Amino acid sequence: SKGAALVSAVAQRLASQRRQVDETLAPFRLSQEQLQLVKTRMRAGLEAGLKSKGPSTIKMLPSFVYRTPDGTEKGKYLALDLGGTNFRALLVNFKKGLQHNARLYHKIYTIPQEIMQGTGEELFDHIAQCVSDFLDYMGMKNARLPAGFTFSFPCEQTAIDTGTLVSWTKGYKATDCEGHDVVSLLREAIKRRNEFDLDIVAVVNDTVGTMMSCAYEDPQCEIGLIAGTGTNVCYMEELKNIKKTEHKFGKTEKGEKEDMVEGTEGEKNEGDAEIPKMCINTEWGGLGDDGSLDDIITPYDVEVNQNSLNPGKQRFEKLTSGMYLGEVVRQVLLDLTRGGLLFRGHVTETLKTPGIFQTKYLSQIESDRLALLQVRSILQQLGLNSTCDDSIIVKEVCGAVSRRAAQLCGAGMAAVVEKIRENRGLDHLNITVGVDGALYKLHPHFAGVLQETARILAPQCNVTFLPSEEGSGKGAALITAVARQKHD
Ligand code: GLC
Repeated sequence: SKGAALVSAVAQRLASQRRQVDETLAPFRLSQEQLQLVKTRMRAGLEAGLKSKGPSTIKMLPSFVYRTPDGTEKGKYLALDLGGTNFRALLVNFKKGLQHNARLYHKIYTIPQEIMQGTGEELFDHIAQCVSDFLDYMGMKNARLPAGFTFSFPCEQTAIDTGTLVSWTKGYKATDCEGHDVVSLLREAIKRRNEFDLDIVAVVNDTVGTMMSCAYEDPQCEIGLIAGTGTNVCYMEELKNIKKTEHKFGKTEKGEKEDMVEGTEGEKNEGDAEIPKMCINTEWGGLGDDGSLDDIITPYDVEVNQNSLNPGKQRFEKLTSGMYLGEVVRQVLLDLTRGGLLFRGHVTETLKTPGIFQTKYLSQIESDRLALLQVRSILQQLGLNSTCDDSIIVKEVCGAVSRRAAQLCGAGMAAVVEKIRENRGLDHLNITVGVDGALYKLHPHFAGVLQETARILAPQCNVTFLPSEEGSGKGAALITAVARQKHD
């Protein structure tokens, strides 16, 4: 009959739509073998970065942090935190002997995009102005506080208080900063204001700050992970494996050697108390910049990379972090819409707008507690009129993209913990990872998939993930305290 023919035509159309959506998402579904390969490549990248004195895709930057905190830190410190869409100023007060008792005051300032991408002088003047506001707010303009500067970009360090910006990442592009010492840039901006003074003691990557703040609670914490706007990892590496600093340590003066010895005193892990270490900021987001991830990169990733501020750079970061996941999703939706599989085939201006899918929307759309109707209302808010079928597909696309991100981070983490386990010649390693970042903390499935993947790919390691509170800021204050203590 006619009715039956119609039903079968609709069924066929649905089946073909399903097939096409599945085909589109297939390249995002990584097999165990592929994840294993990513782990192997990450491991090779870590090793190459440790050895190379020249540039390498994974930079493996020495941080000049020799130990995690031991609870004897004391005093008041200022922490300044630049790296995401916000700048944060914190005042942290550690009470000696009272671990977990750090009092903390903070204020958050947004950094407008024109400042992120304007001149370096404008950027650092803006920061100095925020600091000035914070000191007014705290009533501490005349205190000349010791300060730690969390600066979440790759910096080549030669000491705890100097860091030359190698290259901007994420959404920053301010001029005249690359190749310059960011501590000097900040000091100069403060001098230009001629209104207050700070004693900048340390420059710290956010991963290192996060590791330190979590290690304050858990001595087994020797790794820091950020899964937020960007993605990155740091970990405690044995000095003898850090070949790029060898020339420095080779002709070490007495003072520096003393630092190293002193640095080991705080080690609390039984069995390796005598092993001198330094925290390495891996900058693992650069994996794949030599093409080594090309076999898993989809045409959508290629598009996202080309439209980014730093084409060709941070390829792993572009597969795994908050700043890019929404863009990958948008590229897939564009393609499905052009193929007539979504939004009735209408490519709207909204859908063509970069940046509409922020991480927070992905987190909401993927929440299991959310009914499809609510997914539709989120899409509606974004200016996308969807049918019920559309909302199912959008949710599926988000799921495929974020799951791949979490799995890739898990594979990377497996490489890091395996490296540490082998360093120590252990059959089994227990280790804690301090974590921060909105993707980890707010996304409904990211953390679970990450942990599961790390567990499967590093079966000889028992990895505990510890979310940090006020991570990078408090950590910078701790590093400042550790650096300061030596001189007290
Ligand atoms: C980017 C930066 C890195 C930072 C990470 C997380 O990857 O290059 O330094 O740690 O983002 O914020």
